[in-house]
Amino acid sequence: MENLIALVNRLQRACTALGDHGEESSLPTLWDALPSIAVVGGQSSGKSSVLESIVGKDFLPRGSGIVTRRPLVLQLHRIDEGKEYAEFAHAPRKRFTDFAAVRKEIADETDRETGRSKQISSVPIYLSIYSPNVVNLTLVDLPGLTKVAVEGQSDSIVMDIENMVRSYIEKPNCIILAISPANQDLATSDAIKISREVDPKGERTFGVLTKIDLMDKGTDAVDMLEGRSYKLQFPWIGVVNRSQADINKNTDMIAARRREREYFANTPEYRHLAHRMGSEHLGKVLSKHLETVIKSRIPGLQSLINKTIIEIETELSRLGKPIATDAGGKLYMIMEICRAFDGNFKEHLDGVRPGGDKI
Ligand code: GDP
Ligand code: NA
Ligand code: MG
Repeated sequence: MENLIALVNRLQRACTALGDHGEESSLPTLWDALPSIAVVGGQSSGKSSVLESIVGKDFLPRGSGIVTRRPLVLQLHRIDEGKEYAEFAHAPRKRFTDFAAVRKEIADETDRETGRSKQISSVPIYLSIYSPNVVNLTLVDLPGLTKVAVEGQSDSIVMDIENMVRSYIEKPNCIILAISPANQDLATSDAIKISREVDPKGERTFGVLTKIDLMDKGTDAVDMLEGRSYKLQFPWIGVVNRSQADINKNTDMIAARRREREYFANTPEYRHLAHRMGSEHLGKVLSKHLETVIKSRIPGLQSLINKTIIEIETELSRLGKPIATDAGGKLYMIMEICRAFDGNFKEHLDGVRPGGDKI
């Protein structure tokens, strides 16, 4: 049986592939109904570092200023064996095994949409990574929240980014991964500020604290990690990412994860929390949570999918067969995915107890 997260991934890609043709149908609604995890935070709070730690690979463009200028939908697929590789939805037949080339392609594809300007675009880039070192998970990386426009950017960029981020996280099905640096006051965290607006009770926000190793001597993150500084329904997770010096030295990711584990296990203040700290733990918690949320949404998704199938059938008969047009071909493909989905959902439902646990 296909993994639930992988199923949702396929449907998400299909909805996007239809583009403008989907405007009048239920497809945009369906996209919104699919649970996803969005990464939010201020510039340089450590968003890219957290994503790379979860994946265990260097693959994101980095640098100062606004590097992420389009949403990146990152779909992680766990494979049992074999060499890890990456694929973009905009270049489906090309397998990347060199992750430096993945980074370059993200940058190039960003420029293709925005020109070489420093403007932003809400058109997502879809990237899939297949690896034995990942958990099944989908994360949307968003541009970092910022306070001032830089040279070459319009003044509206600050609000444009905020609005783009809000358009993702205000959807009730969006799980928010809110990244805050531990070496700044939580009260000034951009991630907390915007997530509190859309999720005041912290019911779908996971708080991640970065840069714990950079805190002033004599201070620690225990109050923040134990939820006394800002309370969320889910426990806060602390991480220690690679520093800029580590990155310059090319410290490899797997070694960095090991060092992170040792940091929490060997620092007296954090030892009692060590079992629920670190990037690896974060990846597992998110994967499990995403699967639970998808399962709880199956009945609603199923009726939406059935509605979509009927709409597509109507549209196809209006267009007439054979399906020569581009729109017809895409609609046909999506209908096939929806049908496969419907069958697969039933199997998953059969394996689910009313309480939600799998038998
Ligand atoms: P982004 O702009 O939010 O994507 O932030 P980046 O992931 O690019 O991180 C900004 C800078 O902070 C980089 O130089 C990282 O090496 C550094 N950094 C991020 N997280 C940590 C951390 O936990 N500890 C240390 N020492 N440096 C970090
Ligand atoms: Na940055
Ligand atoms: Mg970044």
